[in-house]
Amino acid sequence: MTTTEAAVVERAQTGRPVRLSALRSIAYEVALNGWRILRETVNDFSLWRIIEYPWSTEALQLRRGELVLDIGSGTSSYPHMLAKEGVDVVVLELDADRVRWQLAKRLATARPGDGRFFPLVASATAMPIRSDSITKLAAISSLEHIPDDAAVGAEIGRVLAQGGVAALTIPYTSRDREHFFKGIRTFVQVERNAFVQEGKAGSFFRFYTDADIERVYMRPANLRISPQRGFGRSILNGRYHETKLTKYWRRFVLKDLFLALIVHPLEERFDRSDPLYVMFTLRKS
Ligand SMILES: C[S@@+](CC[C@H](N)C(=O)[O-])C[C@H]1O[C@@H](n2cnc3c(N)ncnc32)[C@H](O)[C@@H]1O
Repeated sequence: MTTTEAAVVERAQTGRPVRLSALRSIAYEVALNGWRILRETVNDFSLWRIIEYPWSTEALQLRRGELVLDIGSGTSSYPHMLAKEGVDVVVLELDADRVRWQLAKRLATARPGDGRFFPLVASATAMPIRSDSITKLAAISSLEHIPDDAAVGAEIGRVLAQGGVAALTIPYTSRDREHFFKGIRTFVQVERNAFVQEGKAGSFFRFYTDADIERVYMRPANLRISPQRGFGRSILNGRYHETKLTKYWRRFVLKDLFLALIVHPLEERFDRSDPLYVMFTLRKS
């Protein structure tokens, strides 16, 4: 296809809804990082992401040609998956090396018709983005790593446009947690519901109660929350992830397809224990 033909096709498809299934996200991950990721993932792509990426894409009701601000992208393939679906993406990440990695990956995999890619080295606590300018925002398993979450909550409320929507996934607890990965990894409690992995710089990890979510993310800009969805309850977290079996976490990614498509829906249907994470949208209206 010539560049002109590609541009015509791209224009014709602008506005088409973007769908990202669990299977499609694995296919993208293979296309972006090679077959080896089926044996061992090279980034954080694993069970939780196979649940989170399809959820976020649907929750944001993304369409080709729209722009998404992705906060704390790390070395995730999600921005690339969206770009491949014709969505423009702002990759906002604190770590300059990870932004460089994102840009190199983009340059190596870009094709005509892809969405545009805007890498940004910046902190979510002070985003170099105009107020009321973002209509779609995603933060996938990233906000829990930022100690100054009050600043992030205020910033999300500030940059969202009227009618704009943010899809967030964050760790959840209904009561105070005193440990994390007990007996498996050494996480030291540093604040109420917040932990740091011993000897690992930048490993801050915070759990949120409903009251915390309300105070930190909803109240600053009076955002409206959707019903929460969860993942990682007594089977997927209690008997797998937060146990010694976690050594298989990054391995054999196809097992995660079974866990995401069969075990996760059953767990969500019948298990009323706390999920490890919740997923919800916030809307400015
Ligand atoms: C678990 S990783 C990202 C996961 C990623 N969103 C995904 O889908 O796999 C968390 C990321 O947040 C980034 N981060 C930490 N503090 C930040 C801040 N203040 N502003 C922006 N990003 C930050 C870290 O550098 C890290 O890359």
